[in-house]
Amino acid sequence: MKRARAEILSNRSYGAYHSVTIVAPEIAETARPGQFLSVAMPEGRAFLLRRHFSIHQSSRRGGWAGTLEFTFEQHGHGTDWLAHQRAHSFLDVLGPIGTPFAFPRRLTNCLLVAEGHGAGSLYFLAQELRAQGKRVDLLVGARDLEHVFKPIEGKRLSQTVAFMTADGSMGERGSVLDALSGMAEQTRAQVLYAAGPQQMLRGVADFSNARGLPAQIAVEERMGCGYGLCYTCTVPVARKDGSGYDPLRACVDGPVFNPARVLWDQWMGERSAEEMVPTPPEGSPVVRSWPD
Ligand SMILES: Cc1cc2nc3c(=O)[nH]c(=O)nc-3n(C[C@H](O)[C@H](O)[C@H](O)COP(=O)(O)OP(=O)(O)OC[C@H]3O[C@@H](n4cnc5c(N)ncnc54)[C@H](O)[C@@H]3O)c2cc1C
Ligand code: FES
Repeated sequence: MKRARAEILSNRSYGAYHSVTIVAPEIAETARPGQFLSVAMPEGRAFLLRRHFSIHQSSRRGGWAGTLEFTFEQHGHGTDWLAHQRAHSFLDVLGPIGTPFAFPRRLTNCLLVAEGHGAGSLYFLAQELRAQGKRVDLLVGARDLEHVFKPIEGKRLSQTVAFMTADGSMGERGSVLDALSGMAEQTRAQVLYAAGPQQMLRGVADFSNARGLPAQIAVEERMGCGYGLCYTCTVPVARKDGSGYDPLRACVDGPVFNPARVLWDQWMGERSAEEMVPTPPEGSPVVRSWPD
């Protein structure tokens, strides 16, 4: 992970999203699909924490070598501030952070399922998979036409693409989960990748488990530090040997996980808080009841 004082090359809007391109050769050099950037905010209480964005594009070669692009939807203090940053101003950026998506060695038919801004990192993945000769099909969902992320880029990057919108303003009406089974069959998917909201990721996990399809998902958990120190971003992940689970940090142990090992009920808060607390190590102080 490197820290860069990165000049903004451009800050453009596409439908409901903004795309920021920055010059950061030290980060672009090693950035892989699935990893993310941590962007410092200006000083002030509301801006204490850095904000995190998936890497949508990293150029290591050609005329734009050394640049990175990330995309976001403007909805809070931080994204509001970012949306107003102009070309030639500078951002304090850390990256690339986290585990990238793994590429299949032999399997060739890859179905990528994205919702909302999740399409940003999956388009980057699509590009890399295609460069390795894999077949890529895309299933892209959003709440409406405005929130379908760069549809023309999606078409360019995939063998086939299906768009789903909740209001039917583009493609079919419904969610990506409604179309998942048909699309997996039609494209003879051998591996699934997904990025988007938690509920959608869980649907993809259920589907891939039921079909025995290998899958990888990129999660977004609220992050304090963003580089492994604070444990605010944990996801309960079952151990390989079946001996329980570990609260893994989405920032450095993820954000890419095998969905078959995520304990979805615990992560989504559908179990009691007591069950969610991992067993503390031997000898650590244990608070048995909350003080009055
Ligand atoms: C690994 C990762 C990748 C992400 N990639 C993208 C992306 O590519 N595009 C995009 O639009 N958003 C992405 N997000 C979500 C993005 O970080 C938040 O939307 C953003 O931090 C909101 O900041 P804000 O100040 O505008 O909102 P506010 O609501 O004012 O934020 C207040 C605090 O809550 C945190 N927060 C708010 N919403 C989220 C959220 N959904 N997830 C995590 N933290 C949140 C903020 O970081 C901040 O600390 C990603 C989050 C993570 C963890
Ligand atoms: S955000 Fe601090 S450990 Fe992950």
